[in-house]
Amino acid sequence: MDNAWILGLVGTILSFILLCRSFWAKISRSKYRNQLPLGTLGWPLIGETLEFISCAYSDYPESFMDKRRSMYGKVFKSHIFGSPTIISTDAEVSRFILQSDAKTFVPSYPRSLTELIGKSSILLINGSLQRRVHGLIGAFLKSAHLKAQITKDMQKYVQESMATWKDNQLIYIQDEAKQIAFEVLVKALMSLDPSKEMEFLRQSFQEFIGGLISLPVKIPGSQLYRSLQARKRMVKLVHEIIQDRRKSSSPSNPRDVLDVLVSDTSGQFTDELISDNMIDLMIPGEDSVPLLITLAIKYLSDSPKALHQLTEENMKLKRQKAKLGEPLCWSDYMNLPFTQNVITETLRMGNIIIGLIRKAMKDVEIKGYLIPKGWCVFTYFRSVHLDEQHYDWPYKFNPWRWQDKDTGSCNFTPFGGGQRLCPGIDLARLEASIFLHHFVTQFRWVAEDDSVINFPTIRLKKRMPVWVQRREGPLAFVPFPRECEGTTRQTS
Ligand code: HEM
Repeated sequence: MDNAWILGLVGTILSFILLCRSFWAKISRSKYRNQLPLGTLGWPLIGETLEFISCAYSDYPESFMDKRRSMYGKVFKSHIFGSPTIISTDAEVSRFILQSDAKTFVPSYPRSLTELIGKSSILLINGSLQRRVHGLIGAFLKSAHLKAQITKDMQKYVQESMATWKDNQLIYIQDEAKQIAFEVLVKALMSLDPSKEMEFLRQSFQEFIGGLISLPVKIPGSQLYRSLQARKRMVKLVHEIIQDRRKSSSPSNPRDVLDVLVSDTSGQFTDELISDNMIDLMIPGEDSVPLLITLAIKYLSDSPKALHQLTEENMKLKRQKAKLGEPLCWSDYMNLPFTQNVITETLRMGNIIIGLIRKAMKDVEIKGYLIPKGWCVFTYFRSVHLDEQHYDWPYKFNPWRWQDKDTGSCNFTPFGGGQRLCPGIDLARLEASIFLHHFVTQFRWVAEDDSVINFPTIRLKKRMPVWVQRREGPLAFVPFPRECEGTTRQTS
């Protein structure tokens, strides 16, 4: 009886392996065989996913790409995350892909992520609806009104937080930046001030974001299950806020993103669409923007010359403004050339978004490479940003390289490109500039050793601990004039 059971099991396993092999052979022998980029599909089903992940976790995450680039060229085929995939580390090929519309390529994400972000999320919708949501959100995020609001909130939260720091205290920059950037963004999204509701959102959001890149297993106790439960709790709260807004009359000038979406008259913006997007728009507040700030401070801690020049530039602005008795406005922060170069260089080296995955809706040929219908294509920015053909000494933090360099070229795409180009570029830069300004003008610090983890998302292993020391000199906190109510000005 036992033998029969074992034979049955062995038989099933053998049939499964044969099935996988014939499926794999079919892909390899397909009509595209001669036109596909070079490369290998790896093992049946799992392809090269394990090697990709183990390289991504290592100290040298480029090793997966570099090895294949040297064997097959800048565009090659592989099989990762369950799909046959063309990987592009060629800036021009990637630009073409990002600029194509939804008839040619659509976004593709790991299953756990699509389960969690909601089917009406801007990250998943296509065509005219995506363009409409993008246009409305983008116009509001770029408005001078919102930038002034963000500046006021960010200054307030940064000042309040930094005012509690004591000399020789250990501060975790990543935690501080997350706390502040999340509050600023939720305020811009739905005018929520720090409160019990904000705290509830933050806690639920942390649970939610933990499952974005996780095993697609939805059983109680799994990370994905917990994240889905957290999402449900957030949706309930956001729905209540949407209902309240719908009942009140729409203001002539939108106060926040929610006002913009609720006031739309096309009839396409259901409560579900609005709440999906409200929740997904919180991701940069908990993740991308705080990382930009944290990485900038990490790189500056390792580059005394760059830190010195950044501090000088910001001290000069602070003194000028104090002399004039004026508060700092958003354009003051955005017009600091060296500070902006530090942020640009941090984006290049930090690769907060390593690349984007799209799925081909038809056969596409780019620069002689074929991307067959149904295959995924991974535009891998990291390899382009660290390519010595584009950047001298690419692993060296060198903000000066941007003095005469164009940030609009296809060799620099930290915010993507084409129709889905990130609408939050200015906000990300503004928030990072404000944090850096207040940090370097008020504190000196000594950073503890820390290292960057690159997978599944970028983060600092020890959350970037620094010992802070207030700069010398009397520090007086003077209330701002009426137009900047709620913020405090520091004179030195
Ligand atoms: C350092 C900070 C940030 C980085 C590196 C970043 C990066 C990106 C990238 C690469 C994309 C393209 C996605 C794609 O093509 O599929 C994107 C899209 C997007 N980003 Fe950002 N982002 C940042 C901050 C922000 C902020 C502050 C906001 C606003 C709240 C924002 C809102 C969005 C939205 C709504 C999209 C979707 C656009 C669409 O699909 O039409 N991002 N971002």
